[in-house]
Amino acid sequence: MQPTTDTFTTLSKTMIAAVETEMRSVLEAGDAPPDLFQGMMHYHMGWVDADLRPVRVHSGKRIRPLLCLLCCHAAGGDWEQAVPAAAAIEILHNFTLIHDDIQDDSPTRRGRPTLWTLWGVPQAINSGDAMFAAAHLALARLLDNNVPAAAVVRALRRLDETCMDLTRGQYADMRFETRANVSVDEYLEMIRGKTAVLIALSAELGALVAGKDAQTIAHFAAFALNLGLAFQVRDDILGIWGEEAVIGKSAATDIVTRKKSLPVLYGLERSEALRQLYAADPAPADFVPRAIALLDEAEARPYAETQERAYTDLALGYLGEVAGIHHTSQPLIHLTHQLLGRIS
Ligand code: IPE
Ligand code: IPE
Ligand code: MG
Ligand code: MG
Repeated sequence: MQPTTDTFTTLSKTMIAAVETEMRSVLEAGDAPPDLFQGMMHYHMGWVDADLRPVRVHSGKRIRPLLCLLCCHAAGGDWEQAVPAAAAIEILHNFTLIHDDIQDDSPTRRGRPTLWTLWGVPQAINSGDAMFAAAHLALARLLDNNVPAAAVVRALRRLDETCMDLTRGQYADMRFETRANVSVDEYLEMIRGKTAVLIALSAELGALVAGKDAQTIAHFAAFALNLGLAFQVRDDILGIWGEEAVIGKSAATDIVTRKKSLPVLYGLERSEALRQLYAADPAPADFVPRAIALLDEAEARPYAETQERAYTDLALGYLGEVAGIHHTSQPLIHLTHQLLGRIS
């Protein structure tokens, strides 16, 4: 096992460094101090502090770009050619987080104050918009890496189709906050949109740049879609039972904002006391600890963990199909296992 870990560690560090350089170039993070317009984006990316001074902080796990490049590598492609796609996806992901933190009223992300708490909601929306545009500019740079124009247009189109799914997923997520009844099927459709499709696109673009056929690309996407579903169910679990210090974002906001996350859906179905608590207006002062105690009583956590495992197994099944026995798949297999047992 050791050589696999070494290969993964070395390769993933090299890949993430390449993506970081690419994103810095797209977002114009050079030696000169940024103005506030650029600085807000650089702050969100973890490159500067709130006074816009250079800093090195944990700025996200960068799993989507890594997945993109490892899929390109596993598919027999030249991963360096796919770096603009990986950068585009990570920038797009960060655009969604800036807007999501406003939508969810979240004061903390990656252990730091969110953009809107520092510079206000209107400016944070504008930063998110700029990042959305920057993601497209980043993707167009595939042309500079000699990716055929038809593949670049296809990638741009898939990016926007994914954005439509993603914003529909966010729409559903917010709608569900004020709806008493949400079915598990509606929930699954919602997390497919808000989370899984972008993770699926990461794998898809990696395989696309590697020049694979449509069927192989679809298999890579199906693998990562299920990985994304498992990932979001895990995020739901951490959103209730996670340690704030470990996950770097406010635990319990999912409860406060009455998110219809999977454990909550299950709890509401099973516990009359939880239904009454969620219907109480105004909410009692001990709403959060009471809700968590009732979720524990309803065994909502083991239920969600079982669902997470089911998607994990599906993802691993597809991965087995696309990864084959080729040695270039080993780092991708390693990342998948790491993600599925992740703690933050
Ligand atoms: C957070 O994604 C949003 C979800 C879709 C759950 P990540 O957990 O990948 O966030 P970062 O980029 O590592 O902070
Ligand atoms: C994640 O939403 C999906 C997007 C940002 C599109 P969440 O609201 O579930 O994620 P966290 O918990 O804030 O990272
Ligand atoms: Mg949200
Ligand atoms: Mg959120």
